[in-house]
Amino acid sequence: MLIYGKEVAANTLEKITVETQRFCEKYSRKPTLAVIIVGEDPASQTYVRNKINGCKQVGFDSLSYEYADGTQQEEIIERIKSLANDDRVDGILVQLPLPKGYDEEKILANIPDSKDVDGFNASNIGCLCLNRPRTVSCTPLGVMHMLEYTGVDIAGKNAVVLGRSNTVGKPMAMLLLNANCTVTVCHSKTQNISDFTKKADILVVAIGKPKFVTGDMVKDGAIVIDVGINRVDGKLCGDVDFDSVSPKTSYISPVPGGVGPMTISMLLYNTLMCAKARENK
Ligand code: GUN
Repeated sequence: MLIYGKEVAANTLEKITVETQRFCEKYSRKPTLAVIIVGEDPASQTYVRNKINGCKQVGFDSLSYEYADGTQQEEIIERIKSLANDDRVDGILVQLPLPKGYDEEKILANIPDSKDVDGFNASNIGCLCLNRPRTVSCTPLGVMHMLEYTGVDIAGKNAVVLGRSNTVGKPMAMLLLNANCTVTVCHSKTQNISDFTKKADILVVAIGKPKFVTGDMVKDGAIVIDVGINRVDGKLCGDVDFDSVSPKTSYISPVPGGVGPMTISMLLYNTLMCAKARENK
């Protein structure tokens, strides 16, 4: 069976919209997300546009700041500092990846934990590790909602995560561990990767290699979530070879239409959470 992110997200978006109306009545203001983009990468521009549209859809205000590639890093940092001190702003998001030459870590460090809607800050990641989550990285959080949507009890299941990025693989592994899965993380140095993937009841793939996972690597009845978004000959495809893998699975997420639409609803969820937390300080 296919897991369509849009379908899963619709429920969350409805809840956020209702809660946003309540928030606006109670605090006489709208939750507000500030988005910063540097450079002209078309994929990043599309993601940012979708994020801003998402804000409108649920009743948030949004602010967007576009900088040309080559803008001084200090100028971007000054903008973040000013947004950090702006009482109207609940969340600050810097679209990644930044163009070459920018120090991502140094720039992101200026986002206060209370406005870190991406859940990338060290203290928010620490809270996730302690199973006391505050904001959590949107993509892995979206994957958890998709797993929940299947109705399958995942406690005790073997979960294998391919990829160990700070933004997806690592928080994904933590979320699955917090949900009582037995978690294995594989990466570019893992030997005999299919020895691990063949044992996976849940397989989450986030490595950025088109069609890397093939049918022979997957256990019968597995749930496979494909986080990859690759462009091959002008067409989008995931990290999973859908045609050979899907017949073996109980559930699989397609690309496009799978994880992508979930990420935005999770971002809006995090933004509303930050807005509420700031009002209830
Ligand atoms: N680029 C790709 N995914 C993400 C994300 O979740 N957050 C940010 N800030 N940039 C991204």
